[in-house]
Amino acid sequence: MKLVFATNNLNKLKEVQEMLPDSIELLSLKDINCFEDIEETATTLEGNAKIKANHITNHYNYNCFADDTGLEVEALQGEPGVYSARYAGEPANAENNMTKLLKNLNQNTNRKAQFRTSICLNLNGEQFLFNGICEGNILLDKKGEKGFGYDPIFQPKGYQQSFAEMSSEAKNKISHRGLAIQKLVEFLKTSLID
Ligand code: IMP
Repeated sequence: MKLVFATNNLNKLKEVQEMLPDSIELLSLKDINCFEDIEETATTLEGNAKIKANHITNHYNYNCFADDTGLEVEALQGEPGVYSARYAGEPANAENNMTKLLKNLNQNTNRKAQFRTSICLNLNGEQFLFNGICEGNILLDKKGEKGFGYDPIFQPKGYQQSFAEMSSEAKNKISHRGLAIQKLVEFLKTSLID
C-alpha cells in the first residue's frame, strides 16, 4: 500500500519508513508532485494536521497522514503552542523564538512545559488522530548544540540533559513525535493484519 506522509523532511520520512512493514511504501509530498504551500490556518495542532492530511486526500486521492507539533508552556497558558514555529514572527527563526520564550517566562519558577505532536491519518475513507506528549521543563539558559527548534531550552522530565544534548536516537525514543509515530505505526500494523 502507498501512504503519503505530508512532509518534505527526509529525516522524518526515513525514520517512519524504517518503523513500518515493507508492505507500506511511504511517499513524500515531492513524490506525489505536491509543491503548493498548504496553509496551516487552524488554531489547534489537530486542526492543522487535519488540514494537511485532508488536502492530500481530497486533491491527490491518497491515504495520507500529517503531523503538527507545538511546545506548550504552563506559565504562558499553553503558548507558543500551535504558533511555535513563528513565535517571534516571520521568517521562522529558532534563536529568536527561544529568546522570546525565555524573556516572556522571565524568572518564573514554574518552568513546566510539554511538547505535543498531533497526527491525523486518513485511511480508506476514515480519519484517525494520534497524540504524543513529552513533559519537561524550560531551562533558564540554552544548553547543547544538537537537534533543532526549542531543543536547547527543553529538558525532558527525569533527564539531566536538554534535548539538544541528546543523540537523535535517545531523543526519538522519548519524544512527542516518536511517541505519536509509534502509536500510528502500531495502528497501521494491526489495521493491515485485520
Ligand atoms: P512541526 O509541526 O514539526 O513543523 O513543528 C513546529 C515547530 O515546533 C518547529 O518549527 C519547532 O520550532 C518546534 N518543534 C517541533 N518539534 C520540535 C522538537 O522536537 N524539538 C524542538 N522544537 C520542536
